[in-house]
Amino acid sequence: MKINVQKANWKTFRTDSVVFFQPEDKKWLENSLQYYGKNTPLHGQASQMIASGDMSGKKDEQIVLYPASGEVTPKRIVLIGLGKPDKISLEQVRRAAARAVKKAQTLKSKTIAMYLPRVGKNSGEIVAAAAVEGILLGLYKFDRFFKKEEPVTPIETITFLTDDGKIFGSTVAQVAKAVQRAELISQATIFARDMENEPSNNKFPETLAKWASEAGRKSGFKVTAFGPAELRKNKMVGILAVNQGSVKEARFIIMEYKGSKKADSKPIVLVGKGITFDTGGISIKPAAGMGDMKSDMSGAATVIATLKAVAELKLPINVIGLVSSAENMPSGSATRPGDIITYANGLSAEIDNTDAEGRLVLADALIWAQKYNPKSVIDLATLTGACVVALGHVTTGMMGTDEAMKKQLKKIGDEVYERVCELPIYEEYEELIKSDVADIKNVGGRWAGAITAALFLKRFTDYPWIHLDIAGTARSEAASDYIPKGGTGVAVRLLTHMLIEESGKK
Ligand code: BES
Ligand code: ZN
Ligand code: ZN
Repeated sequence: MKINVQKANWKTFRTDSVVFFQPEDKKWLENSLQYYGKNTPLHGQASQMIASGDMSGKKDEQIVLYPASGEVTPKRIVLIGLGKPDKISLEQVRRAAARAVKKAQTLKSKTIAMYLPRVGKNSGEIVAAAAVEGILLGLYKFDRFFKKEEPVTPIETITFLTDDGKIFGSTVAQVAKAVQRAELISQATIFARDMENEPSNNKFPETLAKWASEAGRKSGFKVTAFGPAELRKNKMVGILAVNQGSVKEARFIIMEYKGSKKADSKPIVLVGKGITFDTGGISIKPAAGMGDMKSDMSGAATVIATLKAVAELKLPINVIGLVSSAENMPSGSATRPGDIITYANGLSAEIDNTDAEGRLVLADALIWAQKYNPKSVIDLATLTGACVVALGHVTTGMMGTDEAMKKQLKKIGDEVYERVCELPIYEEYEELIKSDVADIKNVGGRWAGAITAALFLKRFTDYPWIHLDIAGTARSEAASDYIPKGGTGVAVRLLTHMLIEESGKK
């Protein structure tokens, strides 16, 4: 599918469907009638629909008009409601664009044209980028495993039209460039979703390493993966302990992208939790919903996909990606509650609950990250059910010590609509992870579970650090406009936009 930007008028544009986005505003709708031309059949239909209230621009409205033969060139006119004018935001554009292309797809349109809706003072580049995200992420399906019976008609081209060569102040060339960048970032998000949705009979630590290597080769970053021998040599005891019950080998994956022109530029290090399946281990989880734990590697997926995006965008910045990957299984060789491990930095941890495995594997990566003299380290993990209890599926939990980065992620999260919400990591909570037999223990009891998990991680950091708990946001329970049920690829857009800003490339 190709997304174009073109100077042309819809009336003479050859397309299966032309899409208009309509705010819920009677005056606006009445004004829009002039574009159909006076006394034309389309004008007649639309004005009756407005007068009768059948066309109002409400958010869930999708109307198809069929022009009389020879009246205009498009075969169909698809009118998509945008909702209340004062609520029209970039997020509404993402959602409306997703609804528009899905509607056009059910109408078997191979070619679609659309005029982008105005969103306050936003430039055409910004609005187009939001529309592209809605389109590509909205059309995403994880359908590889179905026996295909009726093939869906693929959309071949989508064209953003402009009558005068400008879209909200931006030229066709500028918008086309923004479209290309948004496509690239959306494809990276889709890559993360695919990895998350892959079932765990096809997905092991070695598979994550393979996906990272392939992405590195194609997109231009270096990938190294440690197997059992190197894990032992580097005392990566958390990864080894968690993987101990699995018949598969663990991996620690290192991804290096060096885009900065300055030799001494400090990197940003991204760390991902890569548990390819989390049964809980000996502290086994209840059966209900356990299947969702196939995406307990969503942090890893986000890190791998973000490196791909950053490399393809050729950002002038240094970024390191680290993934701790293991399979958390119960067996005769599995780690037991009460076991004690001693990390490479000398800190010992009592494993009170083998289901709190994410923090155990992340600790090895956080120690390793010290090598890079990082500007900031951001870890991403489907870490705690407690975070989902606190925040639901609406926002990612953010904790950490890098105040400037927190501010930046908050701002960008609001813009890309992958919002983060800060939880406190007051020192009083540290009491909860004290152990009688080791320096710390891996669970803090019933209260403040997302926070005690973060405080465990904090003990392994000596640099500016952020922890993003994506347990609630990495999977969606119900499909909405551009977020399908299942893996969401959350935080690929958030991190990529943060890195674009950090690199100084606008
Ligand atoms: N992978 C889970 C957390 C999780 C829960 C992710 C729900 C996504 C949705 C994690 O490894 C886990 O099991 N955490 C335990 C920690 C507890 C034993 C302290 C939890 O949250 O119950
Ligand atoms: Zn667990
Ligand atoms: Zn887990």
